Amino acid sequence: MGKEILVLTGSPRRKGNSDRLADAFIEGALSAGHRAHKFEAAYKNIHGCRACNMCWSTGTEPCVVKDDFFELAPLIESCSLAVFVSPLYFWGFSSQLKTAWDRFYAYGREDGAKRIAIRESALLLTLGDTEDATCRHAVGTYRDIAEYLGWKDRGIIVAKGVNGKTDVAKHPALSQARELGRSIAAIA
Ligand SMILES: Cc1cc2nc3c(=O)[nH]c(=O)nc-3n(C[C@H](O)[C@H](O)[C@H](O)COP(=O)(O)O)c2cc1C
Repeated sequence: MGKEILVLTGSPRRKGNSDRLADAFIEGALSAGHRAHKFEAAYKNIHGCRACNMCWSTGTEPCVVKDDFFELAPLIESCSLAVFVSPLYFWGFSSQLKTAWDRFYAYGREDGAKRIAIRESALLLTLGDTEDATCRHAVGTYRDIAEYLGWKDRGIIVAKGVNGKTDVAKHPALSQARELGRSIAAIA
């Protein structure tokens, strides 16, 4: 049966490197009968977590900050797989992705834990540098978040050495992302 997949992107560059990885993944997933929901954090009005700890205080809503997180929340509650997509910015995730990701805080708490549908995750990352070590913090952060929220990692694809907006078009990561989307249900 097809999966419902949340693809959460973090680059402000449309048709840039990470966006192309996201689209390749989606193309593969759709070809295998899955449904993908692309949420472009860079084009949404999402504020940072206020640490007010008022999550679920209304009984039904994840957050008291009324912004576009209310478009993301239904996907967090309906998609079983989440794919996080980002350019590397100063050794970490783009602030656009991280800001949206921080708002998952509501789903690490008891009321949210009952509602979140995500059980699996994947990471698509692009960076200008060519050293593996340069993305160690971002990859480590992804792994720690996945472990904290109890998600099974389904794959990490990193495109190194891509700086120009379309550089990833010639990078093997593009076909790897498409193949990950196509084979996602079959991975044990
Ligand atoms: C604000 C900013 C910070 C960046 N920091 C890094 C970095 O720390 N390491 C690196 O290798 N590349 C860095 N880059 C390069 C991007 O990660 C790279 O160009 C990436 O492929 C952009 O992806 P996009 O086309 O999806 O936006 C940075 C770019 C920007 C704009």
